[in-house]
Amino acid sequence: MSTTTRDRVVIFDTTLRDGEQCPGATMTFEEKLAVADLLDEMGVDIIEAGYPAASNGDFEAVAEIARRSKRAVIAGLARTAANDIDRAGEAVRFAKRPRIHTFVSTSPVHMKYKLQKSADEVLAMSIASVTRARNLVDDVEWSAEDGTRTEIDYLCRCVEAVIKAGATTINIPDTVGYTTPDEYRALFRTVRERVPNSDKAVFSVHCHNDLGMAVANSLAGIEGGARQIECTINGIGERAGNAALEEVVMAMRVRSDVFPYETGIEATMLTRASKMVAGATSFPVQYNKAIVGRNAFAHESGIHQDGMLKHTQTYEIMEPSSVGVSKTSLVMGKHSGRAAFRSKLEEMGHKVSDNQLQDLFIRFKDLADRKKTVYDEDIEALVDENIATAHDRVRLVSLTVIAGTRGPQRATMRLAIEGRQVTEEADGNGPVDATFNAIKALVPHEAALELYQVHAVTEGTDAQAEVTVRLGAEGRSVTARGADPDTLVASAKAYLGALNKLLAGSRRLHAQYAAE
Ligand code: KIV
Ligand code: ZN
Repeated sequence: MSTTTRDRVVIFDTTLRDGEQCPGATMTFEEKLAVADLLDEMGVDIIEAGYPAASNGDFEAVAEIARRSKRAVIAGLARTAANDIDRAGEAVRFAKRPRIHTFVSTSPVHMKYKLQKSADEVLAMSIASVTRARNLVDDVEWSAEDGTRTEIDYLCRCVEAVIKAGATTINIPDTVGYTTPDEYRALFRTVRERVPNSDKAVFSVHCHNDLGMAVANSLAGIEGGARQIECTINGIGERAGNAALEEVVMAMRVRSDVFPYETGIEATMLTRASKMVAGATSFPVQYNKAIVGRNAFAHESGIHQDGMLKHTQTYEIMEPSSVGVSKTSLVMGKHSGRAAFRSKLEEMGHKVSDNQLQDLFIRFKDLADRKKTVYDEDIEALVDENIATAHDRVRLVSLTVIAGTRGPQRATMRLAIEGRQVTEEADGNGPVDATFNAIKALVPHEAALELYQVHAVTEGTDAQAEVTVRLGAEGRSVTARGADPDTLVASAKAYLGALNKLLAGSRRLHAQYAAE
């Protein structure tokens, strides 16, 4: 089928809202801006930038993303409450193309237990919220939370009423990841057929991955007539996550014979987006993850390698370069100059200011002095760290650890806390414990260590260690990563990264946990 006859499916990315909302995936203000810039450049049609009423931090991030948006529609989430709608309207009004996305639960179980409202009350709340939102912006999306477990007649009644009130997009989420492809396809067909004014709105899919069917369900919803897919980079999101953007986009591209739709996504940027989101959230991408996993294009078995050498299509259904995987990693080393480093960054898709380049180049030289070859993955880790630590209040200055078979292991650490340098020594049950105890002595806090993970960024014994640390405090979890050829330095950086996130963030109210 030729491109001209294909229907356009719009991509609504909710990495910064549904993705960031999941425990441990918190991003800093700067990280959110960097992710939004990339999504906009990549051709995402709608960026859900956050939930402005949740906190001042969320509001500021949505407002700033709206201000700097170039092409994408910028959406802010809101419950039906007037204050939520107004805050969302205030935050997105700076965008060239603002959208308010208001949602309410419509399933019997949610209305009865979560909202404690009758169906008629929820219908009235929906109409009021859409009407209020339409007074602020022209582009209003209404979502029936837990839509796939909603009674069909009631769902149709709500959809008809909110379209009449001015909703331009109707989203029917599979909030709990319960539906199946056939069921979801049929749901869209039924609603579109039964609702008399359904042609006045775009229908949207929003699928969670609890049974591993989020992508299949999303595509089935499109076959049922929806034309917007809500998804996240790397599939991050509540519980098992949301449908992965890279998977829905590539499924429609590679199997365009079955899914005759097109999107505006520049697929060669998918790998970069995946790495950026993994870096910002510190959520590692599983090695065998479709499209963007480290092994997605690796061929290990002899039979496969033999086939690949004879003809790549024997085992490859898409070119790695079509999703931005570069075959050759141009190796950099200590003799590489500033110009080569800048062009390497550009080749990897990082546009940096002169100041950032200066900072990154110093770090690169430092790394190259300690490591024979610096690979793309190492540079990626440097860039991630540079974005993540730009506004840190607590920074590592130096660390010396005495380790070995004879204890006690002892760490001597120097930190700069808001510019003031302080030093402390601490013992521990092993060098990592001693390192973390030194941090606790210098910055007393109650946070609990929920996760500590180490892996090598590249191959070789001089590879950088990349450490992931998750800290939890007051019901909130944050994750950060640190990279260094010295595992203990990487551990200290990761711990401090998470601590800085806790210090920077305020307690936030998450949309799905809060009743109206
Ligand atoms: O999963 C869901 O129902 C949501 C809504 C807020 C759209 O994320
Ligand atoms: Zn969701």
